[in-house]
Amino acid sequence: MMTTPLLSMDDVSLSFKTKNVLNHLSFAIESGSCFGFLGPSGAGKTTTIKLLTRQLVKDAGRIALFGRPIEHATPNDYNRIGILSDTSALYERMTIEDNLRFYAKVRGVTGNNIPTLLERMNLADDRKT
Ligand SMILES: Nc1ncnc2c1ncn2[C@@H]1O[C@H](COP(=O)(O)OP(=O)(O)OP(=O)(O)O)[C@@H](O)[C@H]1O
Ligand SMILES: [Mg+2]
Repeated sequence: MMTTPLLSMDDVSLSFKTKNVLNHLSFAIESGSCFGFLGPSGAGKTTTIKLLTRQLVKDAGRIALFGRPIEHATPNDYNRIGILSDTSALYERMTIEDNLRFYAKVRGVTGNNIPTLLERMNLADDRKT
């Protein structure tokens, strides 16, 4: 049975002025799979991710998220996507507890269970670190 990929790019190209960065890029990620996206520095990985988050707009090709053109992606679609930031998932100048509160806010959840989670992870004593 054919299933719709969670995410697909088909013949996608993008240039910055005269510099062609993405050249007919195609791939599809199926539900339940683990997908690695590797390339040397400057290959265009971050540029590709920026097309998915719509920080950039492609010149040509088709991008589909949950089976619909990325141009029609809704806030609810983006709520279904997790992210680990480029450098670190933690802000070093914030405490462990503040980091958790920050991400709870970003995700639109209360964070009421933060004390419980800190206990479970054995981090309660270090919550102000
Ligand atoms: N806003 C921009 N304007 C012009 N050129 C850009 C811009 N953003 C990226 N580039 C160029 O596009 C190419 C791809 O950059 P990109 O950041 O996508 O690479 P990358 O695969 O993420 O690299 P790295 O492994 O270093 O993170 C590079 O040559 C980069 O200099
Ligand atoms: Mg990058």
